[in-house]
Amino acid sequence: VTNGFEQYRFIHNALPEINFEEISIRTEFLGKPLSAPFLVSSMTGGTEWAVTINRHLAAAAEKRGWMLAIGSTRALLESPEYASSFQLRPFAPTIPIAANLGAVQLNYGFGVEECKKIIELTGADFFILHLNSMQEVFQKEGNTNFKGLLKKIERLCGQLEIPVGVKEVGWGIDGGIAKALYDAGVSFVDVAGAGGTSFIQVEKYREQNQWMRPVAEVFSSWGTPTAECILSVRSQNPDKPLIASGGLRNGLDAAKAFALGADVAGFARTLLKAATESEERVLEEMERREMELKITMFGIGAGDLEGLKKTGRLQKKPAD
Ligand SMILES: Cc1cc2nc3c(=O)[nH]c(=O)nc-3n(C[C@H](O)[C@H](O)[C@H](O)COP(=O)(O)O)c2cc1C
Repeated sequence: VTNGFEQYRFIHNALPEINFEEISIRTEFLGKPLSAPFLVSSMTGGTEWAVTINRHLAAAAEKRGWMLAIGSTRALLESPEYASSFQLRPFAPTIPIAANLGAVQLNYGFGVEECKKIIELTGADFFILHLNSMQEVFQKEGNTNFKGLLKKIERLCGQLEIPVGVKEVGWGIDGGIAKALYDAGVSFVDVAGAGGTSFIQVEKYREQNQWMRPVAEVFSSWGTPTAECILSVRSQNPDKPLIASGGLRNGLDAAKAFALGADVAGFARTLLKAATESEERVLEEMERREMELKITMFGIGAGDLEGLKKTGRLQKKPAD
């Protein structure tokens, strides 16, 4: 399964009538300024190794003015010894930080008080709940009771003082589900569609799950491609804040996501290797994506993100 962006191409503008040096990729998300419309998507926390990875990501995101999402904070309350891997404010004092928790945890002992504690410990500006039913079902003792979650999400949105977002983890959110979430008070959705990291594949290679390997194989191409999710969510929710992630590899993929209707683009796995190395390596990866986005904008003659979002130059390639 692919991210779906390969089905689109920009029609080149030979006379862009803009100065490359003046192209602006600044934006804001829910009132928070960003120097680039990019997000480090939720990945890790709760282990010793995660301290290093997250500090590299946080320091680089601060320098580039990206938004930063921390990995699932479940471990933060369960094993306080690794709290430091989630406490990134000292390394990223000004950028928006999002805390993250599996929505299903609302059915397994996490309530408003726990979420408030997570916000306090992380200094987060946003609280993201992830929907990962197809990951849990492949875990040996996964949390698979997803009943009644929408009501609980609605209650949480009403009781937390910061905006709540909902994301998938690589299988995608469609327009109807997004509408139900926005109607419940969710401030933003991140489609986290198919085409990138697949946790069914991840679970397949975890030793504890050898017995599920053939089953995981059957579902290896499950999920809605990210490009399709963006179109579907946007068509039913024209004005709602929307993040695109899931298999984005570069700034050109991100540009297509914006032209299809996303406001911010998120990267996870493609930043991970650099994050294990150094802050400088993460910065290189970030600057590369920003440059690719600007080159795309130059190529179609869009001087800012509004111009890119409104471009008529994104075309679906004819079917072979
Ligand atoms: C190593 C790794 C760990 C992840 N952990 C989380 C997590 O804790 N919470 C979450 O919401 N998503 C998690 N994700 C999913 C990502 O945030 C993202 O939605 C998904 O991987 C799609 O992006 P990608 O294709 O750029 O990796 C993780 C992804 C990776 C690669």
